[in-house]
Amino acid sequence: MKIEQIKEEALHKLKEAKDVESIKTLSVSYIGRKGILTQYLREIPNLPEEERPKAGKMANELKEIIQKAFDAKIERIEDESHEIDLGIDISIPGRSVQRGTLHPITQITHRICDIFTGLGFDVVEGPEIESDYYNFEALNIPKNHPARDMQDTFYVSENIVLRTHTSPLQVRVMEKQKPPVRIIAPGKVYRCDSDVRHTPMFHQVEGLMVDDMVSFSDLKGILTAFVHQMFDEQTSLRFRPSFFPFTEPSAEVDIVCVICRGKGCRVCSQTGWLEILGSGMVHPKVFENVGYDTTQIRGFAFGMGVERVAMLKYGIDDIRKFFENDVRFLRQF
Ligand code: FA5
Ligand code: MG
Repeated sequence: MKIEQIKEEALHKLKEAKDVESIKTLSVSYIGRKGILTQYLREIPNLPEEERPKAGKMANELKEIIQKAFDAKIERIEDESHEIDLGIDISIPGRSVQRGTLHPITQITHRICDIFTGLGFDVVEGPEIESDYYNFEALNIPKNHPARDMQDTFYVSENIVLRTHTSPLQVRVMEKQKPPVRIIAPGKVYRCDSDVRHTPMFHQVEGLMVDDMVSFSDLKGILTAFVHQMFDEQTSLRFRPSFFPFTEPSAEVDIVCVICRGKGCRVCSQTGWLEILGSGMVHPKVFENVGYDTTQIRGFAFGMGVERVAMLKYGIDDIRKFFENDVRFLRQF
């Protein structure tokens, strides 16, 4: 028999073989001590001298091929029978891993940042553990001043607090940068507060715009443009006179409550409006604290509650739902 014939026949028989036992028998009949291929190898010395090297090489290569093919098939059969023993059906499609989604507050934060970067603002970030100086003092809120009662503060130590708002970023940015300044600063803030509109940790986006000609109309224009982009052109907002030690004049901005459409409900405390931010013209004391020339420049600032925007956007009637981590709630966004 020719070497090619042996090869073809061996591989064909291997294909037919269905169990380990018959493959083993087949293996013996080809490469066992008295096997066909072994026999062939033994007869090589009887061949004409010029044919010997080639025949030897081919026969040895074939021996290796057969050995590997037989071993591989035995292994496969053993694996499969093992899986069947365990009751595994290898034909069932795999289970895919569920993909997560961004938290609704993260999504809204991204959207807010997109709108303001579209209006020419840069995004900056700052520390959540803040010094008393940046959180209060530099913002014209001296120690023991009654204005400190506006925000229930978590103190880490006497001079270190969990920031109660993102306003420290106003000071941190202006200390480093000369006007013009146009930034927003998103992040977590902390207050000892809890009800349907308040959580002890929530998110704000601070905005600050400083230049030589910035006026209150610019503040109104920018915030109106923001609300119209975030909600729609029909969404009403109102500026309500207010007080912050670091702005003068100051205003809080309310948006018509989308949950009751202005009729009055528990979320808007029956007023039909929901406060989303505090704002105003930057107080000269703050400019002095960062070394700006108060005769040359002016600016506006605002601090927006991200959860409040998200509640309005999605019609959520209790802010605490955002942080209960119920995936049935979170999956909807
Ligand atoms: C401030 O925090 C000021 N720093 C805002 C500011 C910035 C005024 C720049 C002027 C210039 P206020 O305490 O009102 O203000 O909070 C701002 C917004 O954060 C509120 O309008 C509200 O939307 C949101 N907010 C306040 N407390 C909570 C809370 N506990 N849970 C959820 N949102 C809150
Ligand atoms: Mg307020």
